[in-house]
Amino acid sequence: MSAAAKYKKSPAPPASPAPTTTPWAEVRGSVIHGRGMYATQRIPKGTRVIEYVGERITQGEANRRDAARLERQGRGDDGCVYLFEVNKRSLIDGDVEWNTARLINHSCRPNCEPQNIRGRIWIVALKNIPAGAELTYDYGFEFDNWRDHPCRCGQPGCVGYIVGKAHRRRVRRILAGGAGGPAAAPRARQTTDSG
Ligand SMILES: C[S@@+](CC[C@H](N)C(=O)[O-])C[C@H]1O[C@@H](n2cnc3c(N)ncnc32)[C@H](O)[C@@H]1O
Ligand SMILES: [Zn+2]
Repeated sequence: MSAAAKYKKSPAPPASPAPTTTPWAEVRGSVIHGRGMYATQRIPKGTRVIEYVGERITQGEANRRDAARLERQGRGDDGCVYLFEVNKRSLIDGDVEWNTARLINHSCRPNCEPQNIRGRIWIVALKNIPAGAELTYDYGFEFDNWRDHPCRCGQPGCVGYIVGKAHRRRVRRILAGGAGGPAAAPRARQTTDSG
């Protein structure tokens, strides 16, 4: 092998896709946390605001990534869930730079929701959203580790922690000094009503 061939540069890694954009919203510093997405114009109820994109993975791979996430969370790192079930076999892992929708923050009284529309996840407006409002959806987190996710959505009725609607009464009971019941299974997925 010639010296030139020996030291030939390895091929550049494939470029990641450009971050997704939408005419309806842009990324700004958020009053809730870090960065968030804000409406650039009035968004009518029912609008598909932005697609939640990412890597399509199998259930097995999702379980593996979930276990790694829980380990990171146990070490005190961010345990945020970016997995959305698309169907029985596959999920989208939205933890990729080009998925701008991953920056949308959680709210206990959200103005958007993720919807599974024919195998693609869209962030859809739940109401008419005025220009300048921060976009939010309910992360729908499981009950387990709820204390690790304090909520700063500032909405009336905020339970103080990021947990799915179905668990909020239970969390309120615990915070008020009542019993909490057994812990739920330690697996997390974000959900869509239609998924
Ligand atoms: C998917 S990221 C959202 C984008 C995030 N704001 C950023 O700048 O990276 C999810 C993380 O944002 C934070 N977050 C989202 N909604 C929140 C809320 N309502 N209250 C407090 N933190 C929130 C939590 O740290 C959560 O783990
Ligand atoms: Zn809240």
